[in-house]
Amino acid sequence: MAVKNYSKAVDDIKARVNIVDVIGSCVSLKRAGTSYMGCCPFHKEKTPSFSVSDTRGFYHCFGCGESGDVIKFVQKYYNLDFTDAVERLAAQYAITIEETRGKEDSKNDAYYEANRLAARYFFGKISKSANKGYDYMVGRGITPDTIKKFGIGYSGEDGRGLTEHLLANGVDKQTLLDLGLSGQKDDRIYDKFRNRVIFPIINVRGKVIGFGGRNLGPEKPKYLNSNESSIYQKKYNLFGINRAKDAMIKEGTAIMVEGYMDCISLSQSGIENVVASCGTALTPEQAKLLGRYAKSVILCYDSDQAGINAALRGIDVLRDAGLEVRVLNVDDGKDPDEYVQKNGKDAFLRLISEKSVPDIDYKVSMLRKSFDLKDHTQGIKFFRALARIIHGLDPVEADIYIQKYSREYGISEGALRREAESEAPAEEHIPVVRASQEDLQSKEPALSAADVNMERMLIRLIMLRSSNFERIKDYPEAFVTEKGKAIRSAIEALYSPGFDLDIKQISGELSEEAAELLAKIVERVEIGDEDKALSDCIERLDSRRRSKRIAQIQTILEMSDSMPEENVDQEQIKQLLKELNALQKINKGEK
Ligand code: GTP
Ligand code: MN
Repeated sequence: MAVKNYSKAVDDIKARVNIVDVIGSCVSLKRAGTSYMGCCPFHKEKTPSFSVSDTRGFYHCFGCGESGDVIKFVQKYYNLDFTDAVERLAAQYAITIEETRGKEDSKNDAYYEANRLAARYFFGKISKSANKGYDYMVGRGITPDTIKKFGIGYSGEDGRGLTEHLLANGVDKQTLLDLGLSGQKDDRIYDKFRNRVIFPIINVRGKVIGFGGRNLGPEKPKYLNSNESSIYQKKYNLFGINRAKDAMIKEGTAIMVEGYMDCISLSQSGIENVVASCGTALTPEQAKLLGRYAKSVILCYDSDQAGINAALRGIDVLRDAGLEVRVLNVDDGKDPDEYVQKNGKDAFLRLISEKSVPDIDYKVSMLRKSFDLKDHTQGIKFFRALARIIHGLDPVEADIYIQKYSREYGISEGALRREAESEAPAEEHIPVVRASQEDLQSKEPALSAADVNMERMLIRLIMLRSSNFERIKDYPEAFVTEKGKAIRSAIEALYSPGFDLDIKQISGELSEEAAELLAKIVERVEIGDEDKALSDCIERLDSRRRSKRIAQIQTILEMSDSMPEENVDQEQIKQLLKELNALQKINKGEK
């Protein structure tokens, strides 16, 4: 019989659920130093003596002495027994309670142990005898102390050292494969990380959950990461969080960078409240994790297009988690790593205080770049889009920005306010759902952001109203990414007219990654006017089909030009010319 694994669920709850969130929804709390205070819900009082520490995950009432962790609170407050309290929290925070007591736990312990041994092995390689990894790090300005502080390591070139070492230390083969430390080809099992500098990824509880390895040469991929496994899910973790968290609590602020090396170099310079997202799009779970330690975040991404897109998306995710956001563009030097290596800690801190801007100002300045304000039509579009940004803000913030931007762009305050307060959909019906860097980089290099955005949009439209699938189902070409295609076929398999599609059921048909994407789309893609958006997409797809057919006909005509007269079917040519004419007319008419 399956037994529910509550102890794993308790671990997960303690790691992922913020006690201040939970108690804050029942008791009004105010920040007081590093903890929160409110009136105790367990005895009558008028002056607050009930304290909650999010860092320690603990509450304590100085009045009545009641104390405990988040689970105990839910038990007491809702009058539940232990397992019901765990079930309730797990359901609220989408934590799965696994059903194989013991087995899963001991598997995870084996995973942690294997990673611990691996980290020691890699560290041993970089710190003993001469090696390329050490030379590389020193060449990049990293000191032996920093290597030690981050547990940075090196994987040799032989391709077997780690695997053999771990097997000899009792780690089983399957664990090595599950963690992505080793790979297997036929009967041979070999090291996945080869000739790389290794950065251990460590969770808040100090356990090594995975590794990132940077290639020493120009070969691809530049960085290799551990597999996702039951102990390592990228969306819940941030590189550096284990050591940054204390500084984040102290400063109240987190600095968020893109890369391992940015994080390491800043730390070496003495800036400790820094974590890295490591190339993946920032998730709501990561934002929540930050929110446990900091109340504001400085996004400090590269100033290339990918970095700008990542920052724009990151802003919304962080804001949704209740964090205050500022953005810093580092433009002297390619990234924070280079900047701080070249100019030092003080210069970097000065850069933050002088050059970082509030998220809204950053969004507006990026928006501003895509309009030519000398052109009236574009000016109006910019003004409307600006109003849409303000629309999402709370009244006080909105007021400040309305005053600021009406002055800055010479528009009347009243007009901007009315536009910002109206529920009018944004001028652009195909909304800006930026394709993530991952989507655009990996495996599918030919995709344009517009294609990926449209795919996301269509999925969102189907999830909003199942019957929309009827209108889209004959355009399979609109689904361009692997995950998007998988989502489409799951929908196709489950769709039946007149019934609503169920996201859980669809997710059940999908890989974890595709299900995650689907959840994100449902949660995050904004749509103005649904019908208009749908017909815009279909129009675009039809127009694309026509262009394709036009090109096809033109090729046939060119080919028949060069063929001997008697082989050409004149009747067919006439038909094709007619079709071509008609298609070209429609496509021109559209523009
Ligand atoms: P360095 O060249 O070592 O300074 O790296 P960087 O951090 O400056 O590189 P970049 O700005 O290109 O990438 C930022 C982060 O994205 C890296 O630190 C990695 O975490 C991640 N990343 C970059 N390239 C790859 C890749 O090929 N594969 C994976 N999985 N991640 C990558
Ligand atoms: Mn770099």
